[in-house]
Amino acid sequence: MSAANEAAGPFEGFVLGIETSCDDTACAVLDAEGRVLSSVVSSQLDVHRPFGGVVPEAASREHLRNWPAVSAAALQEAGVDWSDVGAVAATRGPGLVGSLLVGLSLGKAISYSLDVPFLAVHHLEGHLFSPLLQTDGASRSVPESMVGLVVSGGHTSLLVVDGPSGAVTSLAETRDDAIGEAFDKIGHRVGLPFPAGAEVDRLAELGDPAACPFRVARIKSDELAFSYSGLKSQALRALGEIEAGNGHAAEAPADAADGSWPREVLDLLAGFRRAAVAQLIDRLNRLCDERPVERLSVSGGVAANRLLRREVALWGERRGADVLLVPLRYCGDNAAMIAHAGLLRLRRGDTDDPRSADAESRIPFSAL
Ligand code: KG4
Ligand code: ZN
Repeated sequence: MSAANEAAGPFEGFVLGIETSCDDTACAVLDAEGRVLSSVVSSQLDVHRPFGGVVPEAASREHLRNWPAVSAAALQEAGVDWSDVGAVAATRGPGLVGSLLVGLSLGKAISYSLDVPFLAVHHLEGHLFSPLLQTDGASRSVPESMVGLVVSGGHTSLLVVDGPSGAVTSLAETRDDAIGEAFDKIGHRVGLPFPAGAEVDRLAELGDPAACPFRVARIKSDELAFSYSGLKSQALRALGEIEAGNGHAAEAPADAADGSWPREVLDLLAGFRRAAVAQLIDRLNRLCDERPVERLSVSGGVAANRLLRREVALWGERRGADVLLVPLRYCGDNAAMIAHAGLLRLRRGDTDDPRSADAESRIPFSAL
């Protein structure tokens, strides 16, 4: 669907990014060097939390409601007017179609009315290149070759990027649950509010993983694919056993004080987190045994995980690989990563036709 931009040359304007693939309404402005001038994310969590997950219909309505304020804030913070926008990048998928349609349609309309290039961006491409964004300053250039680990509530993906052509190939995906989904389900089971990953991570720091070990899922010895449903079931079973032994539910303490959590529950969360992260490291080791990995980018909501950040840094030292960890502020869904992925394509002279770009809930990388 991408086409060479006939007017290709060095891009000099500002890129407006739009991300509405799930429950965050986000807008960002980047300059031509990939400097993030603003990145505004409006969370809809208060709307979805009572339902324990994202309600698609409500998410689309909230995106429409939030957009005027979010886009105005992004432009104001960047000190940019609509007339300064030189390109628009919006997420086209994967995600919730109703949510995607809001952001994509807005992006198409803005690009069409301003008569500036349009880029329909794959959400994972946004995450994959987000470790190149800096908290202060121009983005780093795309390396010659890079392996990317994208870990979020919807994805557990191992990708490879050919820097010069920008081609992205998928090496492995999860066979069942995404890693963030597993964190959310375990957290939900112990009474934590959705999404529970960050809180499970924080509580896991207080437990002893050796006191509650879990097996690391292995598919076949030579496969890179991930699987998190087995670990999730093991952890849920272990929680049931703790409850049966204690005679009461393993739920978040009413006073929410860390010291009020039963020791066995903290140990279980620590054991679960260790096995979840160990599986990622196991697949990276397998990959490294097969082919050289000079550079690894780690991104997505779960890339905020403390243990994962420590473990991949150590892995890089052991394997002599350069590890690019996404800055914490760009871990979760945001529009800076979408504007940035759009900018990378713009630099290669790629654009999309705003009249025909369409939202899709699933998009294989071969369709990029
Ligand atoms: O990238 P993201 O914002 O949205 C998706 O594209 O899914 O990722 C959200 C996911 C949720 O599952 C959330 O619980 C998880 O990332 N998450 C974490 C941590 N922070 C967020 N999981 C584990 N440890 C964390 N520190
Ligand atoms: Zn995401």
